[in-house]
Amino acid sequence: MSNQIPERVLLEGFHAVKHALRFAPELVHDILAANDDWRELAEHLAPDVLPELERRVRPVASAEVLKWSRAVHPTGLLGLAKRPEYAIDPVRHAGRTSPLVLLDDPRRPGNVGAVIRVVAAAGGGGVLATGSLDVWHAAVVRAAAGLHFALPVVGRMEADDVPGPLIGFEADGRDIREVNVPSGAILVFGTEREGLSPAIRQRCDAVASLPMRPGVSSLNLATSVAAALYYLRLSGRF
Ligand SMILES: C[S@@+](CC[C@H](N)C(=O)[O-])C[C@H]1O[C@@H](n2cnc3c(N)ncnc32)[C@H](O)[C@@H]1O
Repeated sequence: MSNQIPERVLLEGFHAVKHALRFAPELVHDILAANDDWRELAEHLAPDVLPELERRVRPVASAEVLKWSRAVHPTGLLGLAKRPEYAIDPVRHAGRTSPLVLLDDPRRPGNVGAVIRVVAAAGGGGVLATGSLDVWHAAVVRAAAGLHFALPVVGRMEADDVPGPLIGFEADGRDIREVNVPSGAILVFGTEREGLSPAIRQRCDAVASLPMRPGVSSLNLATSVAAALYYLRLSGRF
């Protein structure tokens, strides 16, 4: 994709390194360790990646880690990886049946990371975003526990480049149980403060809501993605 420029990705901490190694080991080109904690973590939490870590970890002084990262992660581990280039454009992939999630101008790295993590877990087709936030920034990768490497993640999209069907999500939409969500739809979620922009809301084929108790204004962005996706998944829609 034209906006997918290969760049270095920082994997801060054990979980980010673990998921990158598990899903795309060929993209991980260096793993630095400022202490030995990774071995015990891998033995207990991820024995599948232990041999790869043993082969690749390079023990270094903290100062070496600090050349790349603002702080040494408590687990002491820092990975350097290459950003993937997708062989198939996830947006236009004709055979896709699982939904894509489009974040309309998200602002908080922690929210975007949590979205990537839950979309990966629920088996969604990928995460797209409009706006200026770098969805591959180290803070987003950290919040996603490195699950960027498990599915397509594309930022800085133009909303006009995203074809339908688009299903918007907003607290004032129609109850999700009454909305037809077509196979392979793109589920659109608004920015944290203002919600869906009028331009993208106008393009949505339907706007769905997750019912809430009276008096509650809205759900957090990542929470609403999680609830919507798992509702669709567990009700057999993908
Ligand atoms: C924190 S909310 C934005 C709230 C914004 N102040 C408003 O009132 O529109 C961020 C996004 O989460 C999603 N969201 C939050 N609560 C929702 C609900 N009950 N149903 C569907 N989507 C919801 C929407 O996509 C919304 O744009």
